Amino acid sequence: MTSHTLIAPSLLAADFARLGDEANSVPSADWLHVDVMDGHFVPNLTIGLPVVQSLRAVTTLPLDCHLMIEDPDRWATGYAEAGAHNVTVHVEAASDPVKLAADIRAAGAMAGLSVKPNTPVEPYLELLRHYDTLLVMSVEPGFGGQEFIAGVLDKVRSVRRLVDSGELRVLIEIDGGINADTIEAAAEAGVDCFVAGSAVFGANDPAAAVESLRKRAARVATHLVG
Ligand code: DX5
Ligand code: ZN
Repeated sequence: MTSHTLIAPSLLAADFARLGDEANSVPSADWLHVDVMDGHFVPNLTIGLPVVQSLRAVTTLPLDCHLMIEDPDRWATGYAEAGAHNVTVHVEAASDPVKLAADIRAAGAMAGLSVKPNTPVEPYLELLRHYDTLLVMSVEPGFGGQEFIAGVLDKVRSVRRLVDSGELRVLIEIDGGINADTIEAAAEAGVDCFVAGSAVFGANDPAAAVESLRKRAARVATHLVG
């Protein structure tokens, strides 16, 4: 059973020269996903805190900041202080993830933990008790427009079971390669929040793309509940 169907368009696929307009082109999005990359944790460089601060001023959408950076212990709380709704750090990069989650929450945001496609979740189930969201990467982090790795859905299924049985309280998010062809499988596995970059901002009508992705995911969710 899936409890939520949230769509989070990723600004990575938007026109960076018109970020404010792009953010406002998806008013019915649930969250706006912001990919922060530092050229070290991933081989790509995107945007940082000043841009998130500017975005906060031009949209009322909750900002979902995905930090693909080295040393999130040092930088993550700044994003929470800037008004992010959820701040996600990579388990592969955090040195004290329990303290980090507490710091992010104390700064006013939800705390998210992300795992790369080849990182298992089992070793981190206890750690997840300190977090609000789990971001399962379904592509290697760094770039948009890559192909969905269906094998990561096993991780979604096992965490979904723990959430449904009440053993764990975490919102399950998926990121990478989500589009009309892949979102139903992700919904079926138990994802709550679907990040989509190219499938939204690469579409002629980003707002319509959000609606159509949501419908596809919700159809599966309803079917599972029913
Ligand atoms: C990749 C980013 C994703 C990216 C997804 O490292 O974390 O958020 O924007 O893009 P698509 O949806 O095009 O795979
Ligand atoms: Zn992302």
